[in-house]
Amino acid sequence: MTKDFLQIPDFTTAELLKLFDLAERMRTRQYTHTPLAGKTLAMIFMKSSTRTRVSFEVGTYQLGGHALFLSPRDVQLGRGEPIADTARVLSRYVDGIMIRTFAHQDIEELAKYASVPVINGLTDLVHPCQILADLLTVKQHLGGWEGKKVAWIGDGNNMANSWINAAYRLGFDLDIACPEGYEPADHLLERAQKVAKVRVVRDPAEAVEGAHVVNTDVWASMGQEEEQKIREKAFAKYTVNAPLMKRAKGDAIFLHCLPAHRGEEVTADVIDGPQSRVWDEAENRLHVQKAVMAALMGGESLA
Ligand code: CP
Ligand code: NVA
Repeated sequence: MTKDFLQIPDFTTAELLKLFDLAERMRTRQYTHTPLAGKTLAMIFMKSSTRTRVSFEVGTYQLGGHALFLSPRDVQLGRGEPIADTARVLSRYVDGIMIRTFAHQDIEELAKYASVPVINGLTDLVHPCQILADLLTVKQHLGGWEGKKVAWIGDGNNMANSWINAAYRLGFDLDIACPEGYEPADHLLERAQKVAKVRVVRDPAEAVEGAHVVNTDVWASMGQEEEQKIREKAFAKYTVNAPLMKRAKGDAIFLHCLPAHRGEEVTADVIDGPQSRVWDEAENRLHVQKAVMAALMGGESLA
């Protein structure tokens, strides 16, 4: 099994299925072990967070461990101490490191020099913990993703890239509707397209047609705030609204990783409406991340 969880494909398909079983046992409170007793998770946040911070901290506690919140304002990493040195030092104290940062190379560097597991809490490239939560939500409400179609509307960002990685491992159909110039990462797309039906289209209506899951995200991600105005123009036709949702399957669910901007990427009637599962989706962060920590830090087998 992988030492780190930097991207969805770090787990094999079989391991992912076991991980979802474990997360589901946690969600339904059948799992009450404390595999992190006496263990500590360091959480480095180079960007803001509500869900990731709280769910990792609470999840570690529920598994019997302790979580440390480290912000760049407080740790030497924020003053330029090399990532490699930070990795080597933290590995002498803690049993796992969760990091949210900018460049994906930074987390790869951290994982290379850390002797303890490193978990990706979001990079500019991917947000794998969120996709695990999204998939658990799909399983919870639609029974599974086999034979399902997922529509991604909007920016080809870290969330879109993670959906592509999930399609690569799990094989569901994925249509991504994004404007020109905002496509997901080529290398991830090409790899997934070898094994799954993954398409990039321009028209949101085409992507949503017959979809079981409709998913979107903010138009300007963290670090892109100064592009907000340009992006509002580029994405003007990419709002998930009620007429768009009507083109999806009648029992389709709406997902959004949050935080959401009502009136931009999604209208209030959709995100607050009957097809929305965003609160379960947010809750599921807790369960999937506990499963990841139990496996990588707590000796739970995914075999
Ligand atoms: N979805 C998500 O990762 O939320 P936060 O930015 O609040 O952690
Ligand atoms: N794409 C968003 C996700 C936030 C959870 C961002 O990177 O800011």
